[in-house]
Amino acid sequence: MTLYRKAAPDAAALVEAPETEAFRADVLKGLGAPRKSLPAKHFYDTAGSRLFDQICTLDEYYPTRTELGILEAHAADIARHAGSGAKLVEFGAGSLVKVRVLLDALDAPAAFVPIDISADHLVAASAALALDHPALQITPVVGDFTRSLVLPAFAGRRTLGFFPGSTIGNFTPAEARHFLAEAGRTLGPGALLVLGVDLKKDKARLEAAYDDAAGVTAAFNLNLLARINRELSGTFDLSRFAHRAFFNEEESRIEMHIESLADQVVRAAGCTFRFARGETIHTENSYKYAPGEVADLARSAGWEMDEAWTDSENLFGVFLLSRA
Ligand code: AVJ
Repeated sequence: MTLYRKAAPDAAALVEAPETEAFRADVLKGLGAPRKSLPAKHFYDTAGSRLFDQICTLDEYYPTRTELGILEAHAADIARHAGSGAKLVEFGAGSLVKVRVLLDALDAPAAFVPIDISADHLVAASAALALDHPALQITPVVGDFTRSLVLPAFAGRRTLGFFPGSTIGNFTPAEARHFLAEAGRTLGPGALLVLGVDLKKDKARLEAAYDDAAGVTAAFNLNLLARINRELSGTFDLSRFAHRAFFNEEESRIEMHIESLADQVVRAAGCTFRFARGETIHTENSYKYAPGEVADLARSAGWEMDEAWTDSENLFGVFLLSRA
């Protein structure tokens, strides 16, 4: 298999600042603020990416299997819109399970560019994908898709962007609009975008999805502290913090927090941080939308909504957008 040799230099060339440096800066800023927070993108170190893959298999976590079902039901429609020889670009590629459904349906895709922040995970997943698609040109890009990226140029017809998993829900609506506009520029004229979005639903169903009985989501959340300990010489005692997840109706978002179970002092990245008992670090927002809101958001960012697909329970939406 040649992917490792071919992909590694490309990937290395496209790495921005070393990930730990960005992490350090965000930890110092986020834990130093009066209301503590950390950006959700830092969940995905190697351990965190593994935990996230485990979350996706949980009974309570309906988004992954629901979206996969919708994609399977409509892959042929997507392929028809994309035409033959499309270039496929995935934002926040993770373990590349969902994109296989598109790759199997597309007619002679010209190239696949998975973008992800977690280099190890991305390279391993790309290598596995290459085994099943030996003729496909796969160029993994290690990078932060929340910033502008310049992608490698490929011959090919239409560009088909793929942003599944409701990762867009991590952005505020204003950030989501900015991302969509930026993605339109990155993907170029005539591009299409397949966008997966978790839909509004009852609070109990939502909260169970982010606080599973087996405690996998708790481990995923607390891994942020373990990561600080590993990479930034942190002294967090994980038994003195707890996972919290609740639906904020006003903002239409799940919030995840890490709550301090005691008054305590922790060192990390050469600094001292004080926690009052009950104080939290806000670690994630996961916004939930109605289909009409997705259409409005897309339109405000220069996209038209060509198709809107959902499951029988209206849990999750997959939307096909085209550049207006
Ligand atoms: C990957 C951001 C879509 O918000 O559902 C899952 C992350 N956090 N369980 C989500 C997540 C806790 C997930 N996204």
